[in-house]
Amino acid sequence: MSTTSSQSGAGTEVHKGLEGVVAAETSVGDVDGARCQLIYRGYNIDELVGRATYEEVSYLLLEGALPTRAQLNGWMKQLETCRALEPPTLSLLQALPRSAGSMAQLRTAMSCLGLDDSETTDESLDVIRRKAAQAVAVTPTIVAAIARLRSGASPVGPRTGASHAANFLAMLHGREPAPHQARAMDAYFVLLAEHGLNASTFTARTVTGTKSDYFSAITAAIGSLKGPLHGAAGRKAMEMLQEIGAPEHVETYVQKSLVDHKRFMGFGHRVYKGEDPRAKHLKRIAQALGQQANDLRWFTISEQLQAAVWKAKQLAINVDFYAASLLHYLGIPTELFTAMFACARMAGWSAHIIEQASDNRLIRPLANYVGPRGLRFVPLDQRQ
Ligand code: ACO
Repeated sequence: MSTTSSQSGAGTEVHKGLEGVVAAETSVGDVDGARCQLIYRGYNIDELVGRATYEEVSYLLLEGALPTRAQLNGWMKQLETCRALEPPTLSLLQALPRSAGSMAQLRTAMSCLGLDDSETTDESLDVIRRKAAQAVAVTPTIVAAIARLRSGASPVGPRTGASHAANFLAMLHGREPAPHQARAMDAYFVLLAEHGLNASTFTARTVTGTKSDYFSAITAAIGSLKGPLHGAAGRKAMEMLQEIGAPEHVETYVQKSLVDHKRFMGFGHRVYKGEDPRAKHLKRIAQALGQQANDLRWFTISEQLQAAVWKAKQLAINVDFYAASLLHYLGIPTELFTAMFACARMAGWSAHIIEQASDNRLIRPLANYVGPRGLRFVPLDQRQ
């Protein structure tokens, strides 16, 4: 059997994992790996976090500029009208097996929204924007309903007049959050709203590139985010903290993980050459939540682990590391962490889908074929 590396990509250098390949121009966001900065539509996230709400930031990402007071009121009204679950989605969630993970349930629910969509074949920009508002608004409602049904409780609907973040916490826990909890949730949503051409966003753009519909693109993005090397790392980070259990076990855990060549979840990044710029904000908020709850255990383990892994391997933390204790302090079940990520990223995915659809080009890379050639067909009965 002869093998050869020639094909239509013959002689071209292979960029495994598309590392270093520039596949699009975007004005949605910039992940500046060298300077460890994250920009949303021209604003460094350090400018936005704690000052702009998720409602303002989602508007910024989708429309390209921060809203005026009147525009923000209009956007919040639009979100409010889309926030409740329609009966078919609620029935679907009630019928899904409890044993299925929350990300699989969210993926199925999002696909169901597309099924229900009377404008599936209309992918004009106005229609995509309308679908984006629907998805941004309703995803936290779906996620809260999934969590409540999984624990045997009935879903709680949204209430008017509450923010996106406060509404989510109230729908999850069945009670109003304290103001500092709603602010923490809001900051989490802001910090995870957009992140350039990451795996799930690239997936969404690839689906949009075929002129498929908005909900197909979002459903595929959710499938991509589900993986432990991407969105599920936050959940794995929390499981790691729980496995460590106490600050005095950190050093032993690190040494054993090094011997076992085990990855530290919430550490390392493909693009950032130092610390993820979102991490310091998440760390500060997680610490404040821990102090308010009079329970700094998870924060302390995290801080010591951050120092120990840096000392042992010079590996910096990424977004998922302190997001884990932040979400835990907000009473969010670990199993739900990746779905929380999806709630936040709905704005970024949607902005990229709109950008891709506005100036579309089918996404179709090449591969270097390394299999055999020239084989002769052998009839079924003569094969050995
Ligand atoms: N723990 C231990 N070692 C690590 C880690 C880690 N978290 N991350 C990278 N390394 C090491 C690798 O072992 C490798 O070392 P080697 O060259 O000696 O084999 C080197 O650093 C390079 O690692 P790669 O996997 O090639 O780097 P890549 O750019 O593909 O990885 C990734 C980026 C996947 C995020 C990686 O750092 C990782 O697996 N991290 C843990 C999972 C995680 O936190 N994912 C969330 C990322 S952020 C997001 O998607 C929201």
